[in-house]
Amino acid sequence: MDARKIIGQTIESPGPAGGISEARAHLHGMWEAVAEAWAKHADYIDTRAAGITGKLLDLSSPRPGERVLELACGAGGVGLAAARLVTPGGEVVLSDVAASMTAIAASRAAALGVHNVRTRELDLESIDERDCSYDVVLCREGLMFAFDPAKAAREIFRVLRPGGRVALAVWGPREQNPWLKLIFDGVSAQTGKQAPPPGRPGPFSLQDKAKLADILLGAGLADVSVSELAVSTHANSFEEWMARTTALAGPLAALLASMPEAAKQGLQARLREAAGPYTTSTGLDFPGLTLLASARRK
Ligand SMILES: C[S@@+](CC[C@H](N)C(=O)[O-])C[C@H]1O[C@@H](n2cnc3c(N)ncnc32)[C@H](O)[C@@H]1O
Repeated sequence: MDARKIIGQTIESPGPAGGISEARAHLHGMWEAVAEAWAKHADYIDTRAAGITGKLLDLSSPRPGERVLELACGAGGVGLAAARLVTPGGEVVLSDVAASMTAIAASRAAALGVHNVRTRELDLESIDERDCSYDVVLCREGLMFAFDPAKAAREIFRVLRPGGRVALAVWGPREQNPWLKLIFDGVSAQTGKQAPPPGRPGPFSLQDKAKLADILLGAGLADVSVSELAVSTHANSFEEWMARTTALAGPLAALLASMPEAAKQGLQARLREAAGPYTTSTGLDFPGLTLLASARRK
């Protein structure tokens, strides 16, 4: 699917067939379409999420000689950090459903001189890798975009060898992540349509700790643990927050691109007011909450 054709459609119109596989392809295409912004902001993303990365690596403890799979890698920050821990002899596969994202991860690896990584185009709901082929699976802010996260968890179980570990991060409750909630709320109010649309995966699909734990337990994983981590977001200005957040969030970018100019202006005004309470002397500072989950295959 040509990603550029996707910008301009709305999430609610996934294509002529309108079925789940069309909707899935549509969502994947939206990520493809924002890959350029992920390349541009890769260092910012890794800095913002450094605390999450550190926790994911602590929870899964990749060791020299081990094989690590990063799912939904985007610009590859987590896998690139893991690559240092598995040397000598280990390997990291940076994977994403969007080929443009894995291309960015590959070029970042080359620029950083990290040689023990490969990239693969993989859908985390249907991981095209052998059974029991990884010691560690990592996924930062990706599992919540699965249409069927229980299936994705079963796939993670399948590719882990016995004794293998998984660590993943998803966004916590919408109410506790105003940096993104405000924009979705604003788009919903402006368009009169719920964003993200009901029944479609979105950033807060796995915001419930018990649901996340159940999904991992249901896949057969053991020692399941879910904890919270505060992750704040800073922007130097309202304009920077708006531009960066909407450029990076695949579904949001598509929604905004489909709005008429007057509606975009209306949205800006709404958001300026909504962001008021988060204004500081240096710009905007939002609190945020991430869920960290870890488990292992017995
Ligand atoms: C919010 S970004 C996170 C990127 C990266 N993990 C990070 O933390 O910087 C979500 C990523 O999930 C990827 N993605 C969405 N659905 C996916 C799927 N079904 N399988 C694999 N990757 C997927 C997108 O292409 C995008 O790169």
